[in-house]
Amino acid sequence: MYRHKGASNVHPYLLAAIIPQMSRRGKFITFEGLDGTGKSTQLRKLAAVLRAAGHKVVETREPGGTSTGERIRRVLLDSGTAGLSPLAEMALMFASRAQHIAEVIEPALEHGSIVLCDRFTDSTEAYQGSGRKLGTHAVLELHRVLCGDLQPDLTILLDSNPAMSVGRARRRNQRASRRGHRGHGDENRFEQETRAFFSRVRDGYLAIAKREHGRVAVVNASGTPDQTHRQIREVVSRKLKL
Ligand code: TYD
Repeated sequence: MYRHKGASNVHPYLLAAIIPQMSRRGKFITFEGLDGTGKSTQLRKLAAVLRAAGHKVVETREPGGTSTGERIRRVLLDSGTAGLSPLAEMALMFASRAQHIAEVIEPALEHGSIVLCDRFTDSTEAYQGSGRKLGTHAVLELHRVLCGDLQPDLTILLDSNPAMSVGRARRRNQRASRRGHRGHGDENRFEQETRAFFSRVRDGYLAIAKREHGRVAVVNASGTPDQTHRQIREVVSRKLKL
């Protein structure tokens, strides 16, 4: 009979002591979708109900999430950043992510927290892989090398019509830049992309959801924020028992 080498000599009492320690690792939940699908609002609502249920919750985002990452974010999203090559853009997304994993995500998971992250590597696969046509293979390979292949326990993909959600994001960011100080940049660089670009991004997301159907739950985000929130709570309690 096959016996696992490492486990064969472990006394059952010792195993009973180790297993609860191991299971204390937190959960990693990511939110994905086109610009303007309401990810940030939904993330905050979920964080509030999980905290009310007594969980430790860390809310974070990409690109960003650390002080280095937020500096990289400004370069990536500022519409004043001219001529950034698609490969340089992808490298910066991963630079921000590698730092974010080391400094925030892994320590929080080890500490038993639920980490809610606004965008992760699926964004790179959808935006740079499909939108910029760099391909899935390069993204997954970089993820393996630079992110230790860290996979979310659950990904909530907010799906809605690109014209509607991107229009909403454009209006929001233009309002924010009008309020901001001149010279501080804006977050409009991606929103200036074409309709064809966002339709490739959406197709990219739906292809990921099909391939990773165990991890990715597609949630229809075209209803009211409360309707979307109810769907998300149902998915989180069904898949993660939270
Ligand atoms: P975000 O702040 O989440 O924008 P929004 O709130 O409008 O959805 O993300 C900023 C932009 O960065 C968004 O247009 C998507 C883009 N992005 C990528 O292209 N690749 C990535 O890997 C990530 C994390 C974001």
